[in-house]
Amino acid sequence: VSRHRVAVIAGDGIGQEVMPAAIDCLDLVAGLHGLDLDWHHLDWGSDHYRAHGRMLPVDGLDILAEHDAIFLGAVGVPDIPDVETLWGLLIPIRRRFEQYVNLRPVRTLPGVRPPLADSGPIDLVVVRENNEGEYSEIGGRMYRGLPEEFAVQEAVFTRRGVERVARYAARLAASRGGRLTSATKSNGIVHTMPFWDEVVREALADFPEVELRSELIDALAASLVLHPARYDVIVASNLFGDILSDLAGAITGSIGVAPSANLNPEGRHPSMFEPVHGSAPDIAGQGVANPVGQIWSGAMMLDALGHPAAAAHLVAAFEAALAGGTRTRDLGGRASTTAFTEAVRGHVEDLARTGEHAGP
Ligand code: NAD
Ligand code: IPM
Ligand code: MN
Repeated sequence: VSRHRVAVIAGDGIGQEVMPAAIDCLDLVAGLHGLDLDWHHLDWGSDHYRAHGRMLPVDGLDILAEHDAIFLGAVGVPDIPDVETLWGLLIPIRRRFEQYVNLRPVRTLPGVRPPLADSGPIDLVVVRENNEGEYSEIGGRMYRGLPEEFAVQEAVFTRRGVERVARYAARLAASRGGRLTSATKSNGIVHTMPFWDEVVREALADFPEVELRSELIDALAASLVLHPARYDVIVASNLFGDILSDLAGAITGSIGVAPSANLNPEGRHPSMFEPVHGSAPDIAGQGVANPVGQIWSGAMMLDALGHPAAAAHLVAAFEAALAGGTRTRDLGGRASTTAFTEAVRGHVEDLARTGEHAGP
């Protein structure tokens, strides 16, 4: 039996609903593949902040470091500023564990009709730089009390930071369709972007089999809506990648299905797996959240932990549930979170029985 210690932070809002759903599915798959997932539940998040003035204990990051992976729901509530909740938990985890790749696959799913007609089959991956760029701690400040109030924040792009994410994206593109699009804004206005372009281009010199195209982020956003089937791997800075990944998720049907992996590709530190969506306060507590983003993120975790067959089994099961017409409200269906989860579990068992995904 292969055993993994996983830190679980369900967090806020629908994180509390989609996390148990994903764990139920993961436990079932794990049992069928001879895996033992040892969940370590941590009640960190906004309630912890209300009680202790911090999102996680002082030694929280050290506790996480002892795990093989981190499984996160979402954080953020309407009555606490996001700057406290996100800079207090999500961003420090991504940085401390050098999770510099945020991998966000986007695919057309069976039984899910994309909101735009005739988009063709979508199968792309956003590789988002996850440690620096526009999400910088340097200079971030509001200057109050002056006649002209203002706020500043310095975007920071390092050669090392851009190069390593570009190389990761190039390797991924080489293993897929061989096409890499770099999101840029180098037309003279954003001064960091010509540097981004230069480092990406230089990194790609080692990958002659990959075709690199740079596209301006504004035109790229429009083109993604109009011609999503043209894209294979998209490498983007922290902020551009954030925006593109919600957009790309939405054009396949709902951001509720979009997964992500915050990877430390060298495996020196635990990676973190979380849906692309947030805590969705507008639907929290209603039992209607789509758990696919969380379940699929769990499959990405199984894959990263070295269990691709188990990961594929879980993906096939939620795809079968969708194909069979069980869908949550965001996808135009009427299934509750738990009803959808039960359908996925049923398909996990069916697929094991038909032998398609049996055994390790
Ligand atoms: P959101 O992603 O939470 O929600 C955007 C919209 O999508 C809402 O209408 C919501 O109902 C819907 N939606 C999202 N996930 C869904 C799902 N699984 N099923 C069905 N519908 C779903 O974004 P927001 O409302 O802008 O942000 C809410 C809070 O979450 C904020 O505090 C934000 O900072 C935080 N946030 C956290 C994370 C994270 O922890 N990783 C990510 C994004 C946003
Ligand atoms: C995401 C989220 C976060 C981000 C926010 C909540 C800080 O939107 O994971 O995509 O921008 O990285
Ligand atoms: Mn986002």
